[in-house]
Amino acid sequence: MDRRGFVQALAVGAAGSVTSGGRAAEAVSSPAVPAGDTGRLATTPLVLQAPRADGVEALWGVRERCLGRIEWRSADGTSGGVRSDAFGFNPQGTRFLRIRLSGFKPGTVLELRSVTSAVEGSAREEFSEWKRFRTLDPGARQTRFTVWNDTHVNQETIQRLDEVTPASDFHIWNGDTCNDWHREEDLIPTLLNPGGRDITRGRPMHLVWGNHDVRGAWAFRMPELVATPTGRPFHAFRSGPVGVLCLHTGEDKPDDHPSFRGRVAFDTLRQEQAAWLQEVIRTPEMQKARYRVVFCHIPLRWIDESAQDYAKGGFDRHSRRSRDAWHGALTRWKVQVIVSGHTHRTAWIPADRSHPYGQLVGGGPQPASATWLEGNADANALTLTLRKLDGTVVHEVRVRPVGG
Ligand SMILES: [Fe+2]
Repeated sequence: MDRRGFVQALAVGAAGSVTSGGRAAEAVSSPAVPAGDTGRLATTPLVLQAPRADGVEALWGVRERCLGRIEWRSADGTSGGVRSDAFGFNPQGTRFLRIRLSGFKPGTVLELRSVTSAVEGSAREEFSEWKRFRTLDPGARQTRFTVWNDTHVNQETIQRLDEVTPASDFHIWNGDTCNDWHREEDLIPTLLNPGGRDITRGRPMHLVWGNHDVRGAWAFRMPELVATPTGRPFHAFRSGPVGVLCLHTGEDKPDDHPSFRGRVAFDTLRQEQAAWLQEVIRTPEMQKARYRVVFCHIPLRWIDESAQDYAKGGFDRHSRRSRDAWHGALTRWKVQVIVSGHTHRTAWIPADRSHPYGQLVGGGPQPASATWLEGNADANALTLTLRKLDGTVVHEVRVRPVGG
């Protein structure tokens, strides 16, 4: 159903319709319906974040104080709804709603839709379109994932990325969603309706934090709109044979740099992640992973690792602070590839004796420099293909199973 059809269905109170779950069916030429101009309660698509083996988290923007719930139906004929939060409230909010779904089995195919009800004035209730979702499946023989980085609110880039990126088991938005958070009102459209698109349709998304995502007076509100499996900005999961660590590399200058105005404490967060890594790499799920990948915004390695003069505009192209904190655990886990962005310049740095993990870096925010990564894993190999928007392959990396 295209967007016009979707709006009409809402207008007549239709209970939504089943989407194909594929990307091809999406109307790609329609611009975003500007929030506030539609009269609708929901100001963004239903966004699926932090996919897990037992569920997912659903977020969407609202224009006024609303109650919300999620309805689900599964391929086996069962159905249900989620209409309560951890504190016994029905989900409600004035700017957005956020609902965590749990209790499903790995690999369960679901369709989800949001139901939004106005609290004030005449009774109004809206349904989103049904959105297909499959819980992560650590036991699957294969998996596909996709990655973007450094979109920096470039509308054309986001729209074209959305057109060319296929459906996937999970999608990583690998940091720098914004150009610093100077205005609070930019948070919801940037994160829940980027480029006016429904970017989690067919690809539930994990957001990995970039250095621009933590900048600006309103950055401290961003965690409200970023779901993670653990509630922290670092976490681990399995999808098929791939073990994934998502890490937060923080800023690209020391915490006491005057430009941060005392707002950040990433040395502490890096040390917390170091301690957590020691534990998580020992879990059976991570130990059994045949392929081992880290996503972090700032690379842990770079082609020029010379020291920076922070007082004269210097900044880190690679996060030496993060690498120093994490290298031991990552090496013990036998991580194979670190996938990053940040430099706005693509690179593939193969493993060497002192750094036994490759470093793959995606491109920048302009359409000419933007890239997207596709990862496909089966029993034989994990193939990472980095492409430009026109389809040109920039790097293709094949990884053999750990111990294989
Ligand atoms: Fe960036």
